[in-house]
Amino acid sequence: MHDVKLFREMHRQRFKADPMIFAAPGRVNLIGEHTDYAEGFVMPAAINFATLAGISPRNDGKIAVYSENQGEEKVFDGVQAKGTKEWTDYPMGVVAILAGEGHKIPGHNLSIWSDVPLASGLSSSAALEVATALAVLGLIDASYPGPTLARLCQRAENEFVGASCGIMDQFISINAKENHALLLDCRDLSYKLAPIPDHVALVIANTMVKHSVAGGDYPTRRRESEAACAVIASHRPGVKFLRDCTLEDLAKWGHEMAPKSLMRARHVIGENLRTVAACEALLKGDLKKLGRLMAEAHLSYSKDFEGSCVEADAMVALAQDLPGLIGARLTGGGFGGCTINLVEQKEAEAFAEALGARYAEQIGIVPQIHVCHASGGARRVE
Ligand code: GLA
Repeated sequence: MHDVKLFREMHRQRFKADPMIFAAPGRVNLIGEHTDYAEGFVMPAAINFATLAGISPRNDGKIAVYSENQGEEKVFDGVQAKGTKEWTDYPMGVVAILAGEGHKIPGHNLSIWSDVPLASGLSSSAALEVATALAVLGLIDASYPGPTLARLCQRAENEFVGASCGIMDQFISINAKENHALLLDCRDLSYKLAPIPDHVALVIANTMVKHSVAGGDYPTRRRESEAACAVIASHRPGVKFLRDCTLEDLAKWGHEMAPKSLMRARHVIGENLRTVAACEALLKGDLKKLGRLMAEAHLSYSKDFEGSCVEADAMVALAQDLPGLIGARLTGGGFGGCTINLVEQKEAEAFAEALGARYAEQIGIVPQIHVCHASGGARRVE
């Protein structure tokens, strides 16, 4: 996380006022990809990269938003009804959703500084939404239970930014616990925490291929998998989401689906089973099994969901025989971004170095590799 003292000073100098400061982490998903919007299971952990949001009141009713990352300040007359397709849509979307919930939002200055790598599949968007939400709620002295706040932030992204993401990223950014992964049931938002043993490191390897949820492939995959669900629902009226479907359903009615839809559904249904099994394995300390499930999940993500890319497949393949590896797969929304590698802590640094060198040699791009640990959820920082 960036230096909070320095951040406070930046806000003070720009806005001539002392800010309240909040931090919201990015996340890595250990397993359970493209299952959240199908009301299935995911198992993310927050990481030690975060977005800081500083807030102070102003008395002209205006909302000023400054991002150190963008190097830009924008001033709005007040709450906005719709987005402008710029970075400010994330914070202004949160403000609009909170206003829509009946809160009177006073004028304020919001400054933002993030070290969550952008467009890397590590949920920089959710971190920005959640940090903003905590800051604005702090300003008006209001609060929400974690799961409700996650929904509000997700709505900001769905309705204001226009990205059709699920609930995972906002949920983990708010509700994470240090040194734990969180198995979330995206149907009722109930969850189970699973400790990540001390001897296991989260090694995040950035392919440097840009990832985006708002772009074309994410919504296309979502539509394809939902089309498969509609076919099953036409036979089994109780079915609303792929969460309700089984592999037997696919065996019976898969031939009625477009081939791509069948493949997407096979991924999602299998992924739900793997995710629940992965949590059990982690709770039992069966890391071999966890690693195997991650490998199967990557294969399914790459082959059936076609959500990977040459670079991410290479990053996973190149990790396989390195000492200390427990499991590796592409994490997040896909089509680029990062792989997550669970690695024996004592091998983590050497693993990161060797993987980086192999990837650079094979792909011709120098990757960023971070040895991380699971961090706590969003909070006020002093
Ligand atoms: C992005 C979305 C999440 C989820 C993942 C894929 O991170 O924001 O809601 O759908 O992709 O698992």
